[in-house]
Amino acid sequence: MMQAERPILKVINVVGARPNFMKVAPIVAAMRRRPAKFLPLVVHTGQHYDAAMSDSFFRDLELPQPDTHLGVGSGSHAAQTAAVMESFEPVVLSEKPDWVLVVGDVNSTIACALVCVKLGVKVAHVEAGLRSRDRSMPEEINRLLTDQIADLLFTPSHDADENLLAEGIPRERIRFVGNVMIDSLQQNLTAARAQHTRERLNLSGIDYALLTLHRPSNVDLRESFERILDALEAIAAKLPILFPVHPRTRKTISELGLNERVESIKDLRTVEPLGYLDFLNLSSDARLVLTDSGGIQEETTALGIPCVTLRENTERPITVEMGTNVVVGTDTTKIIAAANAALNGSAKKALRQPPLWDGQTSERILDALESF
Ligand code: UD1
Repeated sequence: MMQAERPILKVINVVGARPNFMKVAPIVAAMRRRPAKFLPLVVHTGQHYDAAMSDSFFRDLELPQPDTHLGVGSGSHAAQTAAVMESFEPVVLSEKPDWVLVVGDVNSTIACALVCVKLGVKVAHVEAGLRSRDRSMPEEINRLLTDQIADLLFTPSHDADENLLAEGIPRERIRFVGNVMIDSLQQNLTAARAQHTRERLNLSGIDYALLTLHRPSNVDLRESFERILDALEAIAAKLPILFPVHPRTRKTISELGLNERVESIKDLRTVEPLGYLDFLNLSSDARLVLTDSGGIQEETTALGIPCVTLRENTERPITVEMGTNVVVGTDTTKIIAAANAALNGSAKKALRQPPLWDGQTSERILDALESF
């Protein structure tokens, strides 16, 4: 008997905030390479909306312009999540997708997943199973809830599989596919290195550290922000630090009256948020990266660049076990010691690349969607 041809799968790919774009871009590109199997749509919730937080990523990553833009914008967690849900529901009802694909752990991720499960539309979650076990982080709540309701869970590492199994998620819903951010990194590294970012920022030929900070627990609280600034002052005395400032951080620096303190630190240079290629250009050549981001812990592991994570925990333990990451919290002395280790060459080296961080994750995601 002839096997019936599978129909084309219509997939809504959701993006909302900056860390979503580099996860969705390679998946949509892979779907476009399989036009007989996939019809990809892109929906942008508008959680991030500044040119530097959103538009530039579409350009750099060649992500097709959204088919639908929900224009939700900023707000309290409840208001933002509710606004995404309310405006996403009619899109799902009219498009009738076979799948909705959500990535990461931002408010748009849980909002869209929740809409789908209530409508009986299948949801796939990319980057499932990561856990910091810190429920004061909004992202941890978003991860836990999205994973409970998604139909198919794509994990980047085996620790994530174990977390999901321990939470009672059936094994047949879990697919270990590797890290899709590394698909983007590999596809764009040559283009990133060809950018003139360092020349533009007068950093050519000199050693520098790269810094990002945006977690509410670091930048919304004066005490932790000041402890970090004390450490940055000591580090900047040895190595210039470039600090692309997230809009949330820009706002709290001003609200906490820390503008002068930040400006007073010699060789701590603040700049506007950078695009994907510019950031990759800088991170791939930094002596040291200091960050509270999740994705940057992974990118530095892939690049072999020392990473000092200014958080008490990480949901990405594999970057510590196998990669270059050290998690030091916000204690001034510990941050300085970790930075010194990077400068005197005693920082830990990556042991090896985590399994399946090989640039082929989006292809494995598509294979799984086709056969589910
Ligand atoms: C969000 C994600 C976080 C992710 C981060 C990456 C949640 C709960 N948090 O945090 O997981 O690591 O994005 O950037 O989803 N703002 C602008 N322009 C923008 C976007 C935001 O000015 O384009 C300002 C607004 O003042 C806004 C604030 O930043 O109120 C916070 O934005 P929001 O999307 O709520 O959270 P992020 O801190 O960006």
